[in-house]
Amino acid sequence: MKICKGLTRITVQLPRAGIVVKFPHLYPSLAFGYFWESFFELWKTRGWRIARKIVLGNDIEVMGTVLWCFGAGIAGNWSEFIFYLKTRHGFCQPTFFSFFGLFNIQKYGQPLGDDDDKLPRFYWYELYPTLGSKAVDGHTWLDADNFIRDRGGLRIVDYGGRKTRELLIGHRFKLGTLRD
Ligand SMILES: Nc1ncnc2c1ncn2[C@@H]1O[C@H](COP(=O)(O)OP(=O)(O)OP(=O)(O)O)[C@@H](O)[C@H]1O
Ligand SMILES: [Mg+2]
Repeated sequence: MKICKGLTRITVQLPRAGIVVKFPHLYPSLAFGYFWESFFELWKTRGWRIARKIVLGNDIEVMGTVLWCFGAGIAGNWSEFIFYLKTRHGFCQPTFFSFFGLFNIQKYGQPLGDDDDKLPRFYWYELYPTLGSKAVDGHTWLDADNFIRDRGGLRIVDYGGRKTRELLIGHRFKLGTLRD
């Protein structure tokens, strides 16, 4: 068993059982810090609407907000589950189950070795320019830890982010047929 802390999820890897359990990575003290240090100050100087937008947040994928600190991992888990359920995308490592985003069960895959840990970024260099600015998510695609080997090919394990899902949909067939 191996436990790995990602930015938005904490994963418990169980290779013998062939699964990974993903829990949201929550940041209560960070959220409290943002709130305590900035919220009232911003409210006083720039008004309630701005204070609410900047500190509490209105987009769950924007880091540095209270919403992100508590919600990003849950939203990522839930999006991953729903995306796989709807698309059965061949490039995604299957997500079998989600308990409302509070924990997910995903199929385990072999981490990439030194020989092929540059492959994902080459995919990204090739694919993202064709979709325009909406599909830029280097955080996921430039980090080889977000990819594994399974069923004889490269698969993505971290597809909770909106832009990554856009790229996966935009290149559904190409990603399905790419072979290294
Ligand atoms: N299905 C899987 N098989 C094997 N290892 C996995 C699997 N899913 C996740 N991992 C490992 O756990 C790590 C964290 O998982 P994941 O990337 O889904 O979380 P995250 O918090 O969204 O990541 P990030 O830090 O990139 O935002 C991965 O980088 C990978 O090393
Ligand atoms: Mg990741």
